[in-house]
Amino acid sequence: MAEVDLQRILTEIEKRRVRCRKQESAAPEESLQMMRDMYAEWINNDYDKDMEVLGFKSPFELAETISLFISDKNSRVLDCASGTGLLGLELKKRGYIRIDALDASKESLDYSRGKQVYTNYFCEYLGHNRLPIENGTYDAICMSAAFGNTHVRPDCFSELLRITKPGGYVIFNVRAENLILDECCKSGKLDDVIHKMAAKGKVEFLEKKRHVYMQCEQNGNTEYCYAFVLRVIGNK
Ligand SMILES: C[S@@+](CC[C@H](N)C(=O)[O-])C[C@H]1O[C@@H](n2cnc3c(N)ncnc32)[C@H](O)[C@@H]1O
Repeated sequence: MAEVDLQRILTEIEKRRVRCRKQESAAPEESLQMMRDMYAEWINNDYDKDMEVLGFKSPFELAETISLFISDKNSRVLDCASGTGLLGLELKKRGYIRIDALDASKESLDYSRGKQVYTNYFCEYLGHNRLPIENGTYDAICMSAAFGNTHVRPDCFSELLRITKPGGYVIFNVRAENLILDECCKSGKLDDVIHKMAAKGKVEFLEKKRHVYMQCEQNGNTEYCYAFVLRVIGNK
């Protein structure tokens, strides 16, 4: 891959990040449409290939964490904001056989079907809206690289807790820069929401660990993320 391709990918990804930050103050429907259009365009222009060039480690690292906490490979797992299915693929490699996918982008879900790792597909927006999923359905909810402006925000937790079995897990990561720059989770906002849920007896806050998010061989750059592990106590 030529240097010029890496430069193009880096420039485009930075533009998308800036656009998402700017869009945060727009009306919710407008933000959602912008996000859907952005992924529809990116999926058709080699999201998976771009991620390979950038050395995207988030799905691999998160799957490693999931396998440390969830030993039963028959567990029902929901991959939220599943995108093209990179996390699902890592989970399948580790032996999980009952994985469902949820994403607001139809193009992403359709693309992920080709990987044949998911059983059920939900084209749904994750926020405070009710999802068409029964209470206590999943042993684990996982989410790679989706928290941030115009993406998934902390208002998703009440639905995530509702659809997780008591004793089940919510395991996700957040790009380190998003925790500093993004309105929805900066200045400790995300941690505050989690600590409040823990104080109310809804979850146990088991872990927050720094992981590699991207490690690009070509330019030697490394980006980090934080992986959060919550255990659901009650889902009321
Ligand atoms: C950067 S991609 C990450 C995809 C995948 N998890 C991975 O690690 O490759 C973000 C995905 O999250 C989805 N997404 C963002 N915000 C969402 C929301 N609020 N509800 C559902 N899906 C969302 C997008 O459609 C996109 O497919």
